Order: sequence, then C-alpha cells, then structure tokens
Amino acid sequence: MQTSDHKRTVAHSVGGSGRAVLLTLAATIVAIVVVAGIYAQASPRSDETAFTLSGGYPIDVPGGVGAGDTGPGARSAYDVFSWQSFIALNSPTDGGMPGENGDNETLWSTWMEDFQVLVSDGQTPAPWGAPLRLPTACKTLTDGDGITRILTHASKVDGVVGLFDQAQAGPLIDQNGSYVRYEILINEPMYTYIRDNRLYNQAGLNAFGQIDFPSGSLDTSTVGAIMVKAAWKVMGAGDDPSRFHVSRAHVFNQQANTCAVETLGLVGFHISTKTVSAPQWIWSTFEHQGNAPDADAPGTGAHYSFFDPQCATKRPGPDCAPNALPPTPWNPQLPNQKPVQVERVTRIDATTAALNTKFQQLLRGVNAHSVWANYMLVGTQFPQLPDDPTDPQGRPFPQYLANTTIETFLQGRVPTVSSNCIGCHNRATATTSAKFSDFTYILSRVTAKY
Ligand code: HEC
Repeated sequence: MQTSDHKRTVAHSVGGSGRAVLLTLAATIVAIVVVAGIYAQASPRSDETAFTLSGGYPIDVPGGVGAGDTGPGARSAYDVFSWQSFIALNSPTDGGMPGENGDNETLWSTWMEDFQVLVSDGQTPAPWGAPLRLPTACKTLTDGDGITRILTHASKVDGVVGLFDQAQAGPLIDQNGSYVRYEILINEPMYTYIRDNRLYNQAGLNAFGQIDFPSGSLDTSTVGAIMVKAAWKVMGAGDDPSRFHVSRAHVFNQQANTCAVETLGLVGFHISTKTVSAPQWIWSTFEHQGNAPDADAPGTGAHYSFFDPQCATKRPGPDCAPNALPPTPWNPQLPNQKPVQVERVTRIDATTAALNTKFQQLLRGVNAHSVWANYMLVGTQFPQLPDDPTDPQGRPFPQYLANTTIETFLQGRVPTVSSNCIGCHNRATATTSAKFSDFTYILSRVTAKY
C-alpha cells in the first residue's frame, strides 16, 4: 500500500542506539535553546541544571532520585525528562524541531504498532519498519492516499479492531458524539527484545525465563524500551484543527466491519520508558490543553473537547454527572451518543505547571503558532525506592496519576481504585502463564500458541 509504505520509509532514529540517536538528531537541530536556572530553583542538583530544547532522547534521569527523594527537585528532574522525551518523540520524521515548519509527522509514528508485533498466526513479526497491512474494509477506500496511520488493534478472534475501550473502564465520547481512539506503539529496542526472544507466541513465552526489557543507560548511551499510548479524537464541529497535532487515519470499526478516513487530533499521550534509574519504568503523560477544566473551576466559557459548560442547562439530569461511564451498548457506529462530561479531578502540580509554561514558551520560540505548545505535561510517575526488595513497585510517586482522556473514569485518590500507572501495570502478565511481563500489557494479548 502506498500509504503504509510512506509511513515506514522514514528513519527510525529514536529507537536505535542512544549514541546514534543523539548524533543524528544533533546534526539536524536548527534551534537549540538553553534555559538555565529552572532546576536551580527547584533542585539541589543545580550543577546539572541547564536543559535544552533539543531532539536528542534524554535516555535517563541523571543520578536517579536517591532514596525517598520526593521533593520538588526529584519531581522536576523527572518532569524535565518527560518533556525532553515528548520533544524527541514528536520531532519531525525528516529532522528538525517539533513544529518548526508547522505541524509534523512524528518519529514515534514510525514505530511498530502492537498489532504488527503480536500477529495472530504467531509467526515472526515483520521486520522493523515493515509496511502496515490494512484490513480489507480499509483497502477499498478511494480517499486513502497519503495516509500515515491506521487505528486498528489485534483482536483475540480475527485480526483487527478499532480500539476504543479504556483500560478496565469504557469508551470516552467527545462533545460531538465521537469515540476517542487509542493506539499503542513500541520502539525498536522493545520490538527487538520481543522478536529475538520469541515472546510473540505462547510457546515462546513459556520457554523463556524472566522478562526483562532493556533499560536506558546514560553510561552506555543506550536508549531502552519505550512504549507509547496515544488518544485521538475526530476533528468535528466546534474543533479547531489548527490547534492540534492532527493525522489523517483509517479508522476501522470491527463490529460493522467498516472503515473510514478521518482527520484526528491528538488529545492524550502516555510515554513509558524503562531506564537504569527506574526499573519500574518512568510514566509520563501529556494532554491537549483544551480537553477539560479542573473540577474545582469548571465555569469558564471556553470550548473543551470533553466538557460542556452549558451541559446542565441543555441536558439536565444524569448526563452531566462528571466522569461517568456512558450508557451501554457501547458501539462507535450508533447515532446520538451522549458525550462524557469530563473534569480533571486532581489539579496539575504547581511545579509541573510552571515547567509546562517554560517548555510551551520554548516551543513557541521555534514557531509562534506551534501546535505542540498546546500540550501540557499532567505529571510523571516514577519509583522513589526502585531497589526496595520489599516493594516491587518501588513506591511510586506521585501515588496517583491520570490522563483525562485515557484514565477518565479512574481519576482521583481512592486507594486501589484510582489510577496508579505502576500499580496497575505491575499486575500485567504474559498470556496463559502467570509470568510477570515487566509492566507491559502488550504481552497479555499474545493469542497464538506457537
Ligand atoms: C487500571 C489499570 C491501568 C492504569 C491505572 C494505567 N494503565 Fe496503562 N494500560 C492498562 C492496560 C490494560 C493497557 C493495555 C490495553 C489497553 O490499552 O486497553 C494499558 C496500556 C498502556 C500503554 C501501552 C503499552 C501496554 O502496556 O500495553 C502505556 C504506554 C500505558 N498504558 C501507560 C500508562 C500510564 C502512563 C498510566 C498512568 C498515567 C497508566 N498507563 C495507567 C492498564 C492501566
């Protein structure tokens, strides 16, 4: 397919060795902006303070956190790591800075989709960079030229589905009645580990010992395993696509076996990175600023993708209860579905919010109209005590972290219920075995026996 080939012909720098990444990207950086002093205000490690807006992947947080360090310094160190990761992953496929020449196709979009790795026949996954295979229903579309993305997902039964249910919850429906779509991709070190160790079928998983994905190491300049989960909404009435990172995509509905070409805007973005300092991985989550207001300040007149300030007037009753699961049946094809009234339950931490302003300014320095400056870091969860033998979760900090578009229904601070990235992913196992899958849910969807 022309569309898929296009997607797969770009370079895969971020997934490769860290040294290569840094050299490749450093050569293409047009603007390097150095901002000193932000760490200096917040962190005792002020000798490592300067950070750059560059396309190089940060690899790890220098020095880790040190036992029990939950002060603003540790939080900021991991938040800076998150922002640097966001910038590296969203750099254009042809080099340069995010947004430099307008919206751009991103490096991470060239990674492997989970359904390409976990092929249902259990055979060796296609080589890194291989083109996507479209479902038949998508192949017949005539307006699919130049499309770089397909929202499909491996199903237990028959190949692909459009993935719309949130993890252990339900679908998120936007103000126009459209379902949010999710996509999961992994970088080359993670893909290579799965392929070389034959973790893509059950026989391989059972024969293998302890699953231990490669960790990013500053000592060897090596990027470790990275996985991303992206949330997309259809650009429709009331949306301004010039404010979003957008992508034309095939959206496949398994229930109806139909496929449509849509313009989607990025609304949520998880990045999970395994590093030497964080064997429980670093959990970064970003959102579009126009998603939803804070629960304690919902009254503004702004247009939100997932919140209607006039909801109570227009549709009095249970429809406007915040963060409530939509009524069943859940089927993206059904007409007139009720939007979910989303609010942010936990405010973004003040030091994180200040850092967001700084990085948004840097991105606007590259391009005053950068779509990337409309995204914000919600927070970074990291292990405070990564090596504590009594706590395999490494005491995650902050304890709870949620993205309003991905953990919409699990926001808040209720123990064992509310979203704790490490806590939930620590329960992930490889299919059939009770084998711990090293914090990824990808291997729980391996269906083929051998
Ligand atoms: C209640 C459990 C739960 C919580 C809390 C949770 N996740 Fe997940 N996550 C899942 C499941 C299940 C999947 C895979 C299937 C899916 O997406 O429905 C997943 C998928 C992912 C993926 C794609 C790779 C994979 O493991 O499949 C990333 C990246 C991710 N989550 C990051 C995060 C981040 C960051 C947070 C915290 C802000 C978080 N998750 C909170 C359950 C959870």
